[in-house]
Amino acid sequence: MKILVLGQGAREHAIVKSLVRTGTPAASIVVAPGNAGIAQDVHCEPQLNPVDPIAIVRFATEHAFDLAIIGPEAPLVAGVSDALREAGIPVFGPSQQAAQLEGSKSFAKEVMAAAGVPTGMARECTTIEQVADAIDEFGAPYVVKADGLAAGKGVIVTSDREAALAHAEKFISMGVLVEEFLAGPEVSLFFLSDGRTVLPLSPAQDFKRAFDNDEGPNTGGMGAYSPLPWLPDNFVDEVEDTIALPTINELARLGAPFVGLLYCGLIVTERGIRVIEFNARFGDPETQVVLRRLLTPLENLLHKAAIGNLIEAPTPQFSKDAAITVVLASEGYPDTSAPNRRIHGLKKAAEDAHIEICHAATATAASVNFEDENPHALVATGGRVLSVVSMAKDFHAAREHAYDAMKKIELKGSHYRKDIALKVAKAEND
Ligand code: AMP
Ligand code: GLY
Repeated sequence: MKILVLGQGAREHAIVKSLVRTGTPAASIVVAPGNAGIAQDVHCEPQLNPVDPIAIVRFATEHAFDLAIIGPEAPLVAGVSDALREAGIPVFGPSQQAAQLEGSKSFAKEVMAAAGVPTGMARECTTIEQVADAIDEFGAPYVVKADGLAAGKGVIVTSDREAALAHAEKFISMGVLVEEFLAGPEVSLFFLSDGRTVLPLSPAQDFKRAFDNDEGPNTGGMGAYSPLPWLPDNFVDEVEDTIALPTINELARLGAPFVGLLYCGLIVTERGIRVIEFNARFGDPETQVVLRRLLTPLENLLHKAAIGNLIEAPTPQFSKDAAITVVLASEGYPDTSAPNRRIHGLKKAAEDAHIEICHAATATAASVNFEDENPHALVATGGRVLSVVSMAKDFHAAREHAYDAMKKIELKGSHYRKDIALKVAKAEND
């Protein structure tokens, strides 16, 4: 099967590695635009713009792809999946309309209300006065969310009333949601959906804050681990029955069937499971650990979802091993951006069989006009540079391998969290 993957991050690199690991020949995968790391594994089309529906459809039909997998949210919101579907290409990725589940937090709240899905109380605001009233109504800590895509930076959780209002000010033109604060551990649970039925993948936990001990600003995600041994046995079934299926059914009822990956961002509160957000795509960096453990052929699962036949797909099976990923970020991330800089030591880091490196913001020196004697040398070009992914028999071992590998990677000014999966590794000894 010829597969086109759209996107350029570590998530897309993880999707490619999982496809290949579970049986897809590397030669039948093309990634647009991809990045320097993905290009070491499969063919990339760096000039192809993933949010340009006309260019993507032209390329996909010309090369007769059997399946398109859409990684990031931007092509979904730009209607690329609709355009590909109209051209007759099976797509794993929801329509523009169904992707509003991620693109508009107020739409997501309406769907959840209609479907009876448990979520936090929220107020939609279009003026700062409304925001002030809402945060005073709910009390501290305050949760203020931009009502649109903001690359993981649209949410603030703070007890500082001024900071909450200042954040609202930044996003008020797109609309702002003020939400009640929910306390408890967070879980990311992915479901494959063909619009009518769903299949769960294995739960993961994301580390959203920039620094150790969950300090610092929210980011796109600084690390993750899977599985979550502390969850009750019936957790996945409960989320499927009370959250994923009712949501999928409600979208079908609205005439916007959801074909793709339903990402349920959950908080396990004392009063039960609550949805904090939906995304319409694989999470980054959770995908790096979830797909690292997948044993079932990914190509078959995604294709069955894309053609509306998930009912005939096998139940996804996962390794019992522990997977963790640690994100290497450039100096200043997420607040400021650093200049392009050389990365050293990646080969040495990847020599360990437990380790895989998924690239996000990397490029060859020549492609970004970076002066270096070696035109193929790798350069970091953005905030989240790469994910070190490690799998081993338990979290303690997975952490050792991950951090040993990380120590071998050199990038001036870079930083990473040292406490990914630390608590769950400590609990293994109890
Ligand atoms: P979101 O982009 O909606 O996932 O929010 C980003 C992060 O903010 C989440 O992963 C949570 O850590 C935090 N967050 C969002 N909503 C709430 C809430 N209602 N209560 C507590 N924390 C929240
Ligand atoms: N890791 C959070 C996200 O993908 O949105």
